Amino acid sequence: MKHVLSFSLRAALFGLFGAVLATFVAATPAAAQQPFNPTAQAVKEEQLLQQLQQVQGRISIPDAKASVLIQPAGREWRTFHNTTVFWTGAISILGMMGLLAAFYAVRGRITIDAGPSGRTILRFNSFERFVHWMTAGTFIVLALTGLNVVFGKYVLMPLFGPEAFTTVSLLGKYAHNYLAFPFMLGVVFMFLVWVKDNLPSSVDAAWIKAGGGLFVKGAHPPAKKFNAGQKVIFWTVILGGVALSISGLILLFPFYVTTIEGMQTAQIVHGLVSAVIVAIMIAHIYIGSVGMEGAFDAMGSGEVDLNWAKEHHSLWVAEEMGKAGNAKVPPSAVAAE
Ligand code: HEM
Repeated sequence: MKHVLSFSLRAALFGLFGAVLATFVAATPAAAQQPFNPTAQAVKEEQLLQQLQQVQGRISIPDAKASVLIQPAGREWRTFHNTTVFWTGAISILGMMGLLAAFYAVRGRITIDAGPSGRTILRFNSFERFVHWMTAGTFIVLALTGLNVVFGKYVLMPLFGPEAFTTVSLLGKYAHNYLAFPFMLGVVFMFLVWVKDNLPSSVDAAWIKAGGGLFVKGAHPPAKKFNAGQKVIFWTVILGGVALSISGLILLFPFYVTTIEGMQTAQIVHGLVSAVIVAIMIAHIYIGSVGMEGAFDAMGSGEVDLNWAKEHHSLWVAEEMGKAGNAKVPPSAVAAE
């Protein structure tokens, strides 16, 4: 009897265990029951990413890198492009505009304290002005078309609609690719023409200490052809221009000299350097136009008012006068109409 009872107890326990096991098996997703098989026909992309960290297949073309469809560095790059470049650009450019607006509100336009003299002095010859405007003109188009890549979708597309935005962006891409070449040439010429006047000099520290005289009316720390602030602009254009040129050429000719990681690094450098350089150039454009009376003429006609020159570049004026045999007015100074 005891034996019979224990047999039926065992049978009942087995039955119960079997039922519980069957319930579990039925409730478990099919994927978890089988070992992961990356070549299975119905394998999901999400599953592949979780298991392998990249989506890679087999290809029969010689370009081996084409077999990798998605990789972790690619997703990091996308986050960088959509978040880091976006916010670095937005904060630096809008921040700079805000600072300049505040500066204008407090200081107003910087005028010629002694008033225009009516006599002018040659500041930049026609070749210097040509180099400036070739570099500046191409830079402005490159900046606007580059900004379109990062911000256009949010700023222009809602205004123009997707069709017009596509056309504008395509034209912008061609402009960006081709105008890069005259810009690079401009940077090279700028370096050759102005480097000798942009090396650090003994008067730079005093100029910086005096805030360039920008914040106090009537303060005019001495400066040679370029003051310390302009030297910062010059080196920003040269070094930033070189960084943009190298990274831009890598992007323009993909995989010629680098791998996918190199392409991503080039894109990171290109995005961040351009965000910073555009913000700095906005300050330059402000001071070279609306921000300071008499400044634009230097790159317009090439002739600046003598009083402007004496206030902002006193040592340079003295040098020019010295060259002219200590004459009080250099030969290039002519009476304005
Ligand atoms: C509408 C835009 C621009 C205006 C109105 C402008 C105006 C000027 C002026 C008036 C000067 C001469 C300053 C002086 O006599 O001391 C100058 C110099 C210079 N500009 Fe521009 N500029 C513009 C855009 C640019 C751009 C986009 C770049 C570079 C990508 C650039 C690079 C330079 C450099 C390197 C100098 C010499 C250093 C300096 O004066 O800061 N400029 N610009």
